[in-house]
Amino acid sequence: MFVKNAWYCAGWDKDLSLGRDGLLARRIAGESLVLYRRPDAAVVAMEDRCCHRHAPLSLGRKEGDSIRCMYHGMKFGPDGRCTEIPGMSRIPEKACVRTYPVVERDNWIWVWMGEPAKADPALICEAIGPGDPAWNLRLGYVRVDTNYRQEIANLADLSHVAWVHSQTLGGSDAWSNIKPRHELTERGIDTRYCVRRTPPPSFARHLFPEGALFDIQVHVRMSVPCNFILHFSVHEVGSATEGPTNGRLVLDTFSSQAVTPRDAHSCDYYYSWGCSRATDMPGLTDLMHEANNDAFLEDKAMLEGQYQRMRERPDAPSVDIVHDAGPGKLLWVLDRLLKAEARAIEIVPA
Ligand code: FES
Ligand SMILES: [Fe+2]
Repeated sequence: MFVKNAWYCAGWDKDLSLGRDGLLARRIAGESLVLYRRPDAAVVAMEDRCCHRHAPLSLGRKEGDSIRCMYHGMKFGPDGRCTEIPGMSRIPEKACVRTYPVVERDNWIWVWMGEPAKADPALICEAIGPGDPAWNLRLGYVRVDTNYRQEIANLADLSHVAWVHSQTLGGSDAWSNIKPRHELTERGIDTRYCVRRTPPPSFARHLFPEGALFDIQVHVRMSVPCNFILHFSVHEVGSATEGPTNGRLVLDTFSSQAVTPRDAHSCDYYYSWGCSRATDMPGLTDLMHEANNDAFLEDKAMLEGQYQRMRERPDAPSVDIVHDAGPGKLLWVLDRLLKAEARAIEIVPA
């Protein structure tokens, strides 16, 4: 179901304060975690389960760089080892809680859910965070009750912009006529295309004269388990009919998105979108942010409805169409990793 040797996004760094109540409970790839900041601001991620009687440590309290279970008072250091058991002087060897490697990058908190020795920060996707001075980005979050495979398949095929987002990001069927090139990468796909001669999106159409048309240059990098990095630039209509547009750049935008499966039926979706400071205009990033929030609720409604139908009849046949190429390649990469992990577990002696 889930690739374990992978970095999963646990949220934005702003979600985890140094404050007394700064305990974040997260469900990631079927496991319950608690995250908190040590006094030096480093993030600790631990299994959200006390080793005594399984109480959630997220109901506990922070004490220096440690966390105390508030059921019977056992205290655990940032390495997960128990350092104190009230009323008992000897601490059993086994009294410890699993901890997970953590990296903060691009204003995201990443947690490695697999073998700690394999936690390579180079595997974290290259994004642009809201702290980057060259960009004016806004952040958002939505929970989507679907299996993460449907969520990443949705992102790997943006032809749905024409239909799901007809009232927000879309507004013409130009997105249905794109011919994306999906190149396989080590852990995902790299997709480029140009949406030519398209009107402004529905959410901004009123800002332009009737009949205004643009070329939109799209570059998407997706990596499994679930990252979607989008560079999306708007240009005056150019004369090129193949390859990238040669129209003048009007607006440069960037979006970093991470889908974290909570379990088989639900995902946490963290996203940003905004403009480069060089092409930003007053109020534009706020408008884009509103449209993006609305659009992701449109995706949520469609994906949750789809998943409900899939669960009603898991064996119902489905028909493939041309737009399935991106999702097909991405899920192939995911399945390859899942199989490799399953094989590695099989060959580890018991
Ligand atoms: S359950 Fe945590 S100390 Fe008992
Ligand atoms: Fe969408």
